[in-house]
Amino acid sequence: MSRLQGKVAVVTGGSSGIGLATGRLFAEHGARVVITGRRHDALEAALGEIGEAAVAIQGDVADLAHHDDVAHIVRQQFGGADIYVANAGVNTITASQDVTVAEFDQQFGINVRGTFFGVQRMAPLLRYGGSLIVVGSLASERVLEGHAVYAGTKAALGAFARSWALELSGRGVRVNMLSPGPTDTAIIEKLGVPESELDGFIDRISAGIPLGRLGLPEELAEAALFLASGESSFVTGVNLRVDGGMALL
Ligand SMILES: NC(=O)c1ccc[n+]([C@@H]2O[C@H](COP(=O)([O-])OP(=O)(O)OC[C@H]3O[C@@H](n4cnc5c(N)ncnc54)[C@H](OP(=O)(O)O)[C@@H]3O)[C@@H](O)[C@H]2O)c1
Repeated sequence: MSRLQGKVAVVTGGSSGIGLATGRLFAEHGARVVITGRRHDALEAALGEIGEAAVAIQGDVADLAHHDDVAHIVRQQFGGADIYVANAGVNTITASQDVTVAEFDQQFGINVRGTFFGVQRMAPLLRYGGSLIVVGSLASERVLEGHAVYAGTKAALGAFARSWALELSGRGVRVNMLSPGPTDTAIIEKLGVPESELDGFIDRISAGIPLGRLGLPEELAEAALFLASGESSFVTGVNLRVDGGMALL
């Protein structure tokens, strides 16, 4: 249980869902973990779960000053980092004809700008042998109803990740994309589906997944652990789908 012994990992959006499960698993494997997120209470609760190895930095990834804060604190406290998981993200489901400029800008601001400038500020701190994991989505490959803008944000991340895999290869930093299919996290509730329709909504999604169910955040965390650890030491530039086979249909 020490595949990340002595490593320092930064997980954006580490206070909930996939990011929280990843931070928890990384800490179990010996990493010191820095998590970020906007909500103070959620960060505090996550620290309680991850334990003493964790540090929380509150902020919004769409705010570039936040990334400077994270870089500064990581440099001061740890001298650098080994793993950066660009995970923070949001999703709204809206037919393209109804998408407002505010909704478009919010999704691109958080998912795209937040990831791009987070990586820009943190990449110089990644040590030789480091791992950068960009959390995408199956939605960038499969057409899902009302997901055009979200899919566009995640497709942009795929293009970034491929560029970064080459740009950072000379420094021994591997860059890979982790693309979840539908996963049972708070993001599902945030989609705005009425409580009374949630079970039916989840059943319909599950019916489109060959393994017949949503993924668990812990299953995404296991895949992130593989990409973060030495077990994937010759893996860079891949898009690892963890989607129960949904991409096949
Ligand atoms: N669950 C799925 O079905 C699924 C499928 C495909 C891809 N994904 C991707 O997986 C990633 C994690 O999603 P999740 O399902 O774990 O969702 P989640 O449970 O809602 O967690 C999202 C995390 O991101 C943080 N966050 C959101 N906006 C932020 C911002 N502007 N600045 C800083 N932190 C922010 C949230 O904290 P605060 O709200 O406190 O800021 C939270 O910690 C996302 O990139 C999502 O697009 C999820």
